[in-house]
Amino acid sequence: MSRQLIVAGNWKMNTTLKEGEKLANAIVKKSKANDPLVIMAAPFTHLQSIGAIVKDAKGVEVAAQNCSNELSGAYTGEVSVGMLKSVGVKYVILGHSERRQYFKEGNALLAKKTNTVLGNGLLPIFCCGEPLSVRKAGNHARHVSKQLREGLFHLSKKDFEKVVVAYEPIWAIGTGVTASPEQAQEMHDKIRKMIARKYGDKIADATTILYGGSVKPANAKEIFSQPDVDGGLVGGASLKATDFSQIIKAR
Ligand code: 13P
Repeated sequence: MSRQLIVAGNWKMNTTLKEGEKLANAIVKKSKANDPLVIMAAPFTHLQSIGAIVKDAKGVEVAAQNCSNELSGAYTGEVSVGMLKSVGVKYVILGHSERRQYFKEGNALLAKKTNTVLGNGLLPIFCCGEPLSVRKAGNHARHVSKQLREGLFHLSKKDFEKVVVAYEPIWAIGTGVTASPEQAQEMHDKIRKMIARKYGDKIADATTILYGGSVKPANAKEIFSQPDVDGGLVGGASLKATDFSQIIKAR
């Protein structure tokens, strides 16, 4: 068991289908065998098409940005894990701070979504991270610990091994303010220790923990070279093929 390096792009609610296809094709073209695993989290409407674009590309996967905790039925507007699997999706981002903040997704719902994703053969990228007020009060580790305990730590060892964790301090998302490499390392180390206390050192050591929040070509190398940072979850800079590709190759 060893950690997998991952650079994931979260496109959020950006790009038309045409723009998304162009971006995905450019990323696939630039990807090389010794790159970290590349994941593109595209909008739902693009997943089928982008699933087809990455199908034969080694080391490139497609992710959804959310999914329902229910499997099927009368849930207007929701998208199920079965639907995602049927178009080639492998990963699902869960608990992004924008889902928590704007759509009121709490830890209890996220625990259910995690079960649904893992129970149906998909892999969660589980996001955690504190707002600025919590950081200023010095309570960031406690805040993240609660998110992990309530959203993830009900999982069995066997299931937890499949989870990718993404630490995204909210004050660094879309703001241009990145956590310093030391701040990122400090929290990643703390998160790994939280995982170790629950699941043991071996599993903690093998868990991929991504950093997210204003990752750019100019700062990626320094952040990714921290010992407990195993890659990134990139928003804005993942929408430009040249920037995203430079980030992929940063380590
Ligand atoms: P930015 O890279 O735009 O700050 O977004 C980070 C993020 O939210 C990725 O999920």
